[in-house]
Amino acid sequence: MTDDDPRIRELRAIRERARQGGGPERVARHHARGKLTARERLDVLLDAGSFSELEPFTTGVADESARFYGDGVVTGYGKIDGRTVYVYAQDFTVLGGSLGMAQAHKICRVMDLALSAGAPIIGLIDSGGARIQEGVRSLGGYGEIFRRNMQCSGVVPQISVMLGPCAGGASYSPAVTDVVIMVERRSYMFITGPDVIAAVTGEAIDVERLGGADVHMTLAGTSHLAAPDDRAALMLCRRVLSYLPSNNVENPPLAACDDDPLRADEELNRIVPLDPSIAYRMHDVIERVVDHNSWLELQPAWAMNAIVGLARIGGRSVGIVAQEPGVMAGVIDIDASDKIARFVRTCDCFNIPLVTFVDSPGFLPGIDQEHRGIIRHGAKVLYAYAEAAVPKISIVTRKAYGGAYIVMSSKLIGGDVNYAWPSAEVAVMGADGAVNLLYRDQIAAAPDPEAERVRLAREYERNYTNPYHAAAFGYFDDVIEPRETRARIAAALEALRDKSVVPPPRRHGNIPL
Ligand code: HXC
Repeated sequence: MTDDDPRIRELRAIRERARQGGGPERVARHHARGKLTARERLDVLLDAGSFSELEPFTTGVADESARFYGDGVVTGYGKIDGRTVYVYAQDFTVLGGSLGMAQAHKICRVMDLALSAGAPIIGLIDSGGARIQEGVRSLGGYGEIFRRNMQCSGVVPQISVMLGPCAGGASYSPAVTDVVIMVERRSYMFITGPDVIAAVTGEAIDVERLGGADVHMTLAGTSHLAAPDDRAALMLCRRVLSYLPSNNVENPPLAACDDDPLRADEELNRIVPLDPSIAYRMHDVIERVVDHNSWLELQPAWAMNAIVGLARIGGRSVGIVAQEPGVMAGVIDIDASDKIARFVRTCDCFNIPLVTFVDSPGFLPGIDQEHRGIIRHGAKVLYAYAEAAVPKISIVTRKAYGGAYIVMSSKLIGGDVNYAWPSAEVAVMGADGAVNLLYRDQIAAAPDPEAERVRLAREYERNYTNPYHAAAFGYFDDVIEPRETRARIAAALEALRDKSVVPPPRRHGNIPL
């Protein structure tokens, strides 16, 4: 067929209409809000020229005049850094990106393809929610998507990039995915909007303060990362994927690394203050240990007493878990428990070794925490670490008291390689609490009770809280100089590279003959 063949001309005309989404006026309004269209977003997200669209001519059930092709979503597959991904991008210029039957069908189809191909699925979300005109059928569409979210969970990475509204129960789909990225001041998520809240509870609030990026990054913990605009959010999505394998039976990609895995860092030997009541920044420790510029912290502004994030050591992806002693002394509370447990599960799903830095005085005491279920939440950390089959390496930098010592990747719950710095303090509880319990009568009877209490506390520290006491029982594999931490982790990662859930099967032993 030639260029002037009417059938070719018709195809091109339909394609062009499909490309225009909701039409030039709506696209102009969308741009005026500083937002990219669905197709422009895919151009930023995917390697140049790699996108193949699926079902672009679909029209919605309620859209009988077929004004809009595609039914408010662009779906297909393409590449990120040369690796296949499946994508759907909701198009707000078509019926507000609302989800009807045809849109739900298109999204479900790429999710099914992603699962069977063992490739990540990325959702670019910008939608007014269930399409009102399609009533219960659009609710059914969400049900179909949710079901696939669960089927994909733990098999292929799922990433949600929130680029506009995500109203009502629709928010449960991104909430299930592995990583959620929000655009500041343009995206929002909530179960019930400001009007419903005002009617039911009488509280007045706007969408930004109810469910904007700031809320989900600091208070709710729903979002892992935030970016100032569409482009930055999509680039973050590309970066997140660079740490992840395409599915749960692959290993994460090995990155080129010009940072010597054996690099010693002299500053680490000076980082922990001699006075145990003075804080230092665990973020500094992490950044000095991992490959230069490889640290990508997740949920950095929520439950800040805990730190989780992705990094590389010697080019290998690792999941970092730690406490920040400068925030609530690194204590583990309910939110920190949830943050750590979910991240450990994420890494374990996707074969990402866990490197844990421990400095915690324990679980947070208090009536509020007890009544809200610190036992139930803290148990998630224990469960996640104990069940994780990926390589688990831990370094106790200072405090590891009570439950915090055990749950944070200790040898007792299946840690593979456990190190302590000379500054490590491991015991059932801190010296002050311990001597008050053990020597209450002796302290009270002393001529100078305070001096006696201090003397006993120092003696307790000498005898019990130092790392050599724990190492004597084999609870640490070694007490290492902080400067050599990177090299020791790199060696452990190499030694554990082929660790698997079940060891290689044995055909028979090698009988001496
Ligand atoms: C059909 C919709 C729509 C919807 C928006 N539109 N939401 N059409 N169903 N749910 C259409 C509008 O009619 C309009 O069409 C276009 O999209 C743009 O919408 P505007 O209101 O002009 O845009 P804006 O001012 O930016 O406001 C965006 C918005 C608002 C805040 C999202 O549209 C809104 O409140 N929509 C309803 C949100 C909602 O309550 N959804 C249901 C949630 S419950 P034209 O033709 O003028 O361009 C839900 C249940 C899921 O989703 C449950 C799963 C278990």
